[in-house]
Amino acid sequence: MPRPDLLQRLATHTVEREHAQLRRRLRTIDHVDGPWLHSGSQRLLSFCSNDYLGLAQHPQLVAALTRAAREEGVGSTSAHLICGHRSAHAELEEALAVWTGRERALLFSTGYMANLGVLQALLARGDVCVQDKLNHACLLDGAQLSGAELKRYPHADVTAAARQLASHPTAAALLATDGVFSMDGDVAPLRELASLCALEGATLMVDDAHGFGVLGDDGAGSLSAAQLGQHEVPLLMATLGKALGCSGAFVAGPDALIEGLIQFARPYIYTTAMPPALAAAALEAVQVARSETWRRDKLAGLIARFRHGAAELGLPLAHSASAIQPLLLGSADTALGAAQALERQGLLVTAIRPPTVPAGQARLRITLSAAHEEAHVDRLLGALETLRLSDASQAPLGNPV
Ligand SMILES: Cc1ncc(COP(=O)(O)O)c(C=O)c1O
Repeated sequence: MPRPDLLQRLATHTVEREHAQLRRRLRTIDHVDGPWLHSGSQRLLSFCSNDYLGLAQHPQLVAALTRAAREEGVGSTSAHLICGHRSAHAELEEALAVWTGRERALLFSTGYMANLGVLQALLARGDVCVQDKLNHACLLDGAQLSGAELKRYPHADVTAAARQLASHPTAAALLATDGVFSMDGDVAPLRELASLCALEGATLMVDDAHGFGVLGDDGAGSLSAAQLGQHEVPLLMATLGKALGCSGAFVAGPDALIEGLIQFARPYIYTTAMPPALAAAALEAVQVARSETWRRDKLAGLIARFRHGAAELGLPLAHSASAIQPLLLGSADTALGAAQALERQGLLVTAIRPPTVPAGQARLRITLSAAHEEAHVDRLLGALETLRLSDASQAPLGNPV
């Protein structure tokens, strides 16, 4: 039998995806101006970025980045453990640890790498990793990479998580959850999960990519909002590429955790450190995000305005109080058709389809930002009204918050 051709097999998978009308396509954005995107001849009002506080183009961040690039150059030239760890990285780690109330923080180049690094360093064959079914792909991938047994419980179901932990009473156990779920916008039952982990002797990890900067006192995230400290949640991961408007991620927790990650987290060790100018911009973002509290207030007002308007229109809203406001449409065709119709009206909203979400749970993932104005939200609601989505199937997703 001839050996299978790998490129041919991949091409076949792509064609299959095309036939299922699930093919993903790249769009090049030529210019960004706040919530406005220019792509070719189109000028689109975007409701799909994760720039929740509207910091990505903040003049202070841009100034910090350019100043540092002028002084330090562009690349870090090496991994952290060789000679890539600069004072900008160290200062940013210190600021993130202080903000999140943790002993130490460690930078990673992306959130994806941070999650792979933590799970691979911490877990081994024979351990169990219990995760919410709707966790972000990189938490699931990290568990698979680690060799531990991965058990997934139905979304936000603490009783099912308890059963899974109890069925492995002697294995070392990590329970990992998103803080705010990326495609649903609801917040995990963090306090209940923390109590469960305390009872079962399991370690709790929270990926707060979408809560950090937005929720809690001073924007410190979903753990701060739930009043959970390092003792209850020793492992906090959050990204710098969403509310902070930069790129990269960090893990925060006890000194022993951070020291262990430096020794054993391969996605930390074997990669070039993030550009120091980016670390300088992120440090500025920390200061702006903490001090410009009006951004969180404005965002909260826009979320309330959208939800009120969408409820009046009878739109299939999810139970989300966060900046992520999905409209649950059911079929991939309906979601794609709605996104295309909005685009014809000058609005960019992403249709999220399987395999990113389960079959039958396709949706429009609408995200709001402090960079939006009330008139933008009204324009979106006006366009949604023309689509007559109120009788689209409403999948029972998310947790009432
Ligand atoms: C919940 C969650 N975790 C991790 C990541 C990965 O972060 P990054 O984009 O920095 O790789 C994302 C999204 O990108 C996310 O939504």
